[in-house]
Amino acid sequence: MFIGSVEINGYAALAPMAGVADRAFRQICADFGAAYTVSEMVSSKGLCYGDRKSRELMVLDPEAGPSAIQLFGDDPEYMAKAAREALTFHPDILDINFGCPAPKIVNNHCGSALLQEPHLCEQIVKAVKEAVPIPVTAKIRKGFHRGDDVAVEVARACEAGGADAITVHGRTRDQMYAPPNDRECIARVKAAVKVPVIANGDIVTAADAAAMYEETGCDLVMIGRGALGAPWIFTEIHALLHEGRTLPAPPLSRRMAVLYRQTELAAKLKGEKVALLEARKHAAWYMRGLKGAAGYRTAAGTISTLEELARLCARVIEENENTAV
Ligand SMILES: Cc1cc2nc3c(=O)[nH]c(=O)nc-3n(C[C@H](O)[C@H](O)[C@H](O)COP(=O)(O)O)c2cc1C
Repeated sequence: MFIGSVEINGYAALAPMAGVADRAFRQICADFGAAYTVSEMVSSKGLCYGDRKSRELMVLDPEAGPSAIQLFGDDPEYMAKAAREALTFHPDILDINFGCPAPKIVNNHCGSALLQEPHLCEQIVKAVKEAVPIPVTAKIRKGFHRGDDVAVEVARACEAGGADAITVHGRTRDQMYAPPNDRECIARVKAAVKVPVIANGDIVTAADAAAMYEETGCDLVMIGRGALGAPWIFTEIHALLHEGRTLPAPPLSRRMAVLYRQTELAAKLKGEKVALLEARKHAAWYMRGLKGAAGYRTAAGTISTLEELARLCARVIEENENTAV
């Protein structure tokens, strides 16, 4: 499929996840076949005021394949200025966040708060679109309040503003991440707009991805939490959808090797201290479901060097060699 002029080769994209889907994780997911990755969300106002952290979030890796920088903000002018700034980091696509449910974002009239103002969404998309020569996309939710169903209206507004694709997460803001994820809502958006629709929410297996395609008619699926500690989900989806094959779960030694590789890469990019602090949560995800996982989580909570991580991985493999699934 194409997002504007950008070809997306594959079946599944990695969702933007602030504090989690950093450069190292995005690179690992791309290695496993993620067709497209999106940066952690970046504050348009932060960028306009020269915030260093906001700029760091926009660094992309050309080897990671098609990549978007995601911006959030409620002021079309700031968003346009931020979009021009983002261009200096050479994204293929700019994505606009109309879905974040976090109180600190919503209380600032950003993220999913804007779902209540489709006309403003349209103006923001239009301003960004006019500011940059690359495709612009919008990521939305079903609505703000429980019971809202404004996705079609907001998607149409974004399309009218010039959006080249719409990503839909079938939950309202009030639901946060609680079930259900409404696939029918995503299907209605797909039927209502001409631009490609990317379907998001609760895909944790290749079969879930297949069901999402079938039930929504979407053009691409996007995976968030299902990729945490399991970036091989992209290979599994490709195997199922391209070849009809169900891949076995990777052996534990491989899972631990990927955790180590991801952390090593993160250490190169942000230094061992920060990378290892952040690796603690990733380690817990990679060790999910193992016998003794709670103990490993506690152990992972104390690691601060790559060497300690290597020792923990070796211990996990040794203790689970015959029992791991
Ligand atoms: C830790 C975390 C951080 C997230 N950060 C962002 C973000 O920066 N921008 C965004 O649009 N969505 C963000 N999301 C939402 C995801 O992109 C996705 O829409 C949501 O998790 C539902 O998909 P899933 O069920 O596959 O996880 C975040 C989700 C999580 C769990």
